[in-house]
Amino acid sequence: MDLKGKSVVVGVCGGIAAYKVVEVVSRLKKMGAEVDVIMTANARKFVTPLTFRSLSHRPVVTDMFSDPEYWEIKHVSLAQKADLFIIAPATANIIGKLASGIADDMLTTTVVATKAPVLVVPAMNHDMYANAIVQRNIRTLRELGYIFMEPDTGRMAEGSSGKGRLPEPSAIVEKACSILKSEQDLAGIRIMVTAGPTRESIDPVRYITNHSSGKMGYAVAQAARERGADVLLISGPAEVECPDGVRLISVTTAQEMEEAVLANFENSDVVVMAAAVADYRPAEVSETKIKKNGDEMVLRLVKNPDILKKLGTMKGNRILVGFSAETDDLEGNAADKLESKNLDMIVANDVTMEGAGFGTDTNIIKILKCDGTVIDLPLMSKLEAAHRILDEVRGLAYAAGDAGL
Ligand code: C5P
Repeated sequence: MDLKGKSVVVGVCGGIAAYKVVEVVSRLKKMGAEVDVIMTANARKFVTPLTFRSLSHRPVVTDMFSDPEYWEIKHVSLAQKADLFIIAPATANIIGKLASGIADDMLTTTVVATKAPVLVVPAMNHDMYANAIVQRNIRTLRELGYIFMEPDTGRMAEGSSGKGRLPEPSAIVEKACSILKSEQDLAGIRIMVTAGPTRESIDPVRYITNHSSGKMGYAVAQAARERGADVLLISGPAEVECPDGVRLISVTTAQEMEEAVLANFENSDVVVMAAAVADYRPAEVSETKIKKNGDEMVLRLVKNPDILKKLGTMKGNRILVGFSAETDDLEGNAADKLESKNLDMIVANDVTMEGAGFGTDTNIIKILKCDGTVIDLPLMSKLEAAHRILDEVRGLAYAAGDAGL
């Protein structure tokens, strides 16, 4: 990837892995980025500023109050010019300071002043990384939109093994590139995504559900966030972690999902219903565990609300996207739902096809639009499929925008 014209600010903290960041800076520079390095006082005990200066061909910023080499106020100018901030190695100390809003040196002050995405790459002793306060601080920052890389597991500097090593420089640069290339073409758009299965109780021990893993809906939420949207994810019990910067409302039943969706509908421009909502629930939920008395047992079910259909009757100029998981007549069934639920778009997938079923990381989708267009996509990762769905959403949103969305 060519990074010409991109500005990356790299904040180096005081950890033994600081030496590996020398290669990160070198690679970014070779790819054409303008790289500015800010070092904390402790970082300078591990690597000299001269090393970074020689590779970045730019002055290394170390001290808030030294004589400026430029006329600008440095922490503000670096904060403003950055297209991306990388903090590596991120120590427990800087993670704690950022989570608490402390700005007491050049690095923390610049990060607090920036609007650029911040990629935090922790590296520290594995017991420090596992510490509950460190983990809480990471969660806090993730919720605020900071992007984290997981440390590698392996032999640490002090000899023992565990999770806390800085990822390889190539992996850090790859992640940086993926952030830099993501267009912010959904900035200002409020997207509500539903995901996962719902779970309908039979008694205190048992429930009815389906095989949905939540991966497709979570991928849509992640992709939308990467493209600058304001994303609310309403999820049934799913196996996946909430993407950085996405607000999550966890629900269990279809009725809870309906309540959460309706409460947030007015404040949404786009709704993507990827959840596999249970169509029926037990008519009665036993308060005590049902005993296995007979050879047969009959469970009476009643219909759950069709959330998407309801949204279709009150959509205004919102964009509604449904999903259609089928085992037969994929296009016919999806087209019927597109019309009967008054949708703008429906994403159809045949769950019997290899690579398109539940729980996989890939999908094979067809996108049907209400103007009759059908887009047939090959096998791809769920994240890539999510981006293709959002490309179409963006097209509709821009068209609606011209009409005053
Ligand atoms: O009718 P069917 O369940 O096949 O439609 C699938 C689409 O409708 C999905 O987008 C799903 O999230 C949504 N749906 C819903 N409420 C239901 C069932 C499905 O919103 N009770």
